[in-house]
Amino acid sequence: MLTKLMATAALIAALGQFTVDAYVEKTSLGGMLYLVNTEYTLSADYVPPDLVRPRVRTDYGNLLMRSEAAKALEELFQAAKDEEGFILEAVSGYRSYGKQRAIYQRKIQSTGDKAKASLLVAPPGASEHQLGLAMDIGRKGGSGLTARFGDTKEGQWVAQNAHRFGYIIRYKEEWTAITGYAYEPWHIRYVGKEHAGRLFELDIPLDTYVAM
Ligand code: DAL
Ligand code: ZN
Repeated sequence: MLTKLMATAALIAALGQFTVDAYVEKTSLGGMLYLVNTEYTLSADYVPPDLVRPRVRTDYGNLLMRSEAAKALEELFQAAKDEEGFILEAVSGYRSYGKQRAIYQRKIQSTGDKAKASLLVAPPGASEHQLGLAMDIGRKGGSGLTARFGDTKEGQWVAQNAHRFGYIIRYKEEWTAITGYAYEPWHIRYVGKEHAGRLFELDIPLDTYVAM
């Protein structure tokens, strides 16, 4: 583990030598540990490989994710049903750079405040949704993407169990100063089981974990 973390640090130190997308590829360490935030962004033409439609419940159209993340999402949703009888639904998956830009602009208009909008929606290029490794989820018949999801039985089960399937809660309430985003109990990010387990144990944001 230490060797891997040192390798990550070396890759970050070498950041300047790569284009942004090459950086994203290099920091994956052959896995899914890509760091994307407002500092480390994706270019407008970055489209992840192997996008597929996860076979999970949704009322939100043709949602896509990378295939490994999609399979893990199917397993997560199935376990929620088998173990607890919870019915989860997918709300928002892969977003192109252009789609993210449109969502960001709409949020600026609806809030009338760029700083406030930027706490809620990532600018284009800075969203994990463009990686195809994030999914916004809720409970069937739930009240949309609100912090209340974190207080529901379903939301609490997801927070305690997502790591078993390679997912993390990316934007916890107490991490806003580090992640730059408000609490999003509905936004789960696939990093693979090994890293998700470590992140759950350490209880630190992905940004901090990669920087280590
Ligand atoms: N709401 C998250 C931060 C995103 O837009 O990617
Ligand atoms: Zn999200």
